Amino acid sequence: MTMWGGRFSGVTAQEFRNFNDSLRFDYKLAPFELQCCQAWVDVLHEQQVLSVDEMELLHQGLAQLQTDIAANPELPLALGAEDIHGWVESILEQRIGLVARKLHTGRSRNDLVATDLRLYALSASLQAGTALLGVIESLLHFAERYEHQVMPGYTHLQRAQPVLVAHWALAYVEMLERDFQRLQEASTRMNISPLGSGALAGSGIAINRTELAHALGFSRACRNSLDAVSDRDFVVELLSVASLSMVHLSRISEDVIFYASGEAGFFTVSDAVASGSSLMPQKKNPDVFELVRGKCGRVIGHLQAMLITLKGLPLAYNKDMQEDKEGFFDALQEWHQCLSILAYVIPELSVDAAKAESAARLGYSNATDLADYLVDRGMAFRDAHEVSGQLVMAAIQEGVALEELSLEKLQKGSQLIQEDVYQALSLEASLARRNVLGGTAPKQVSEALRQAKLRFQGK
Ligand code: ARG
Repeated sequence: MTMWGGRFSGVTAQEFRNFNDSLRFDYKLAPFELQCCQAWVDVLHEQQVLSVDEMELLHQGLAQLQTDIAANPELPLALGAEDIHGWVESILEQRIGLVARKLHTGRSRNDLVATDLRLYALSASLQAGTALLGVIESLLHFAERYEHQVMPGYTHLQRAQPVLVAHWALAYVEMLERDFQRLQEASTRMNISPLGSGALAGSGIAINRTELAHALGFSRACRNSLDAVSDRDFVVELLSVASLSMVHLSRISEDVIFYASGEAGFFTVSDAVASGSSLMPQKKNPDVFELVRGKCGRVIGHLQAMLITLKGLPLAYNKDMQEDKEGFFDALQEWHQCLSILAYVIPELSVDAAKAESAARLGYSNATDLADYLVDRGMAFRDAHEVSGQLVMAAIQEGVALEELSLEKLQKGSQLIQEDVYQALSLEASLARRNVLGGTAPKQVSEALRQAKLRFQGK
């Protein structure tokens, strides 16, 4: 049974059905569809379309369906309906009789699907928000665990300056915090109700759409019916929040993959969350992090697909818009999965203190400190940069670290250099010197950690 048979005399081809029907994926909207139907039944009763008995019968039928869906989310798939809207009508008619045929009075699948999808998006946003907080919490714990641990900081993937592990973790806390804010802002905009917009021109029954919107938990009703049924900005926005957040998760992953590699080797992924090779017995691979990095591309792909689907669409509804669901569902599911697994694996990471420290010492990461030392003693920075660079070159030629050059050799660079240079070249001095808001000096990092913990306490 379709919802639109009357005008047709020919039989619908199975091939068309297979291509056109959306039940196989939009069944996921069932809980939200039923929620809309419940509110709509009240509207129809107020408008005297339904008697009290009919209203109650429909409420009961819908409530029973809601219970059945909760027990078996795939229930709709058993019946060959075109989409979730057709499914609800047909199954209701089977279960409670002809009164189900009144349910679609004054509404359209166009306003219905847009409302369902917004409710779905709001619920998925709530779950994503909680999962984001989970990753933030695991990063904060990690920062706490390694609050005083030094490691190399990189630019161009070359050792640059030493940083604290906690500083690294807190950098990602900042990114994920912005993701969380973006998610909340996007949620505010998606929290408006299309229901009552009809197919495109507004419902034919004079319902109070604001009350209906509130009954569904929305903050207000969409203001323009053409916009309401054809707007998928909220899908694009949420996909873009998810994509950017996935970029952050991918960057965390990339860092961990490198830090845990044979080349860097100062992070270790625990056995519980790593895998081996079927051929090479020695391998231990950081699969989770690679998968997260890989899935980032998939989520970004869904964002692109949605933008491209929308770009040429005339107002108002077009069937192209049915393509708004599969990628959206998949992106939100993958994002959520990546957040959950990262919250699980971050506590499974450990830092090898000795390796991290010796890695931080390598690569002449204290060359800037030597330049700063000379500046403190009156040299212009550009000259100090030159002198430090020459001494790095001398050290490279000797195959030693800067602090392993004798005072005599260092003084060939500049007579300003004295015995206290060795203290200035130490990891401790290098860290402590970055004592500026946002810097990696231990004092700054401890304060940043304290502040971050305060921001997320009780969230
Ligand atoms: N399955 C459709 C979708 O997801 C529902 C809306 C159908 N509307 C229509 N006028 N054919 O977009």
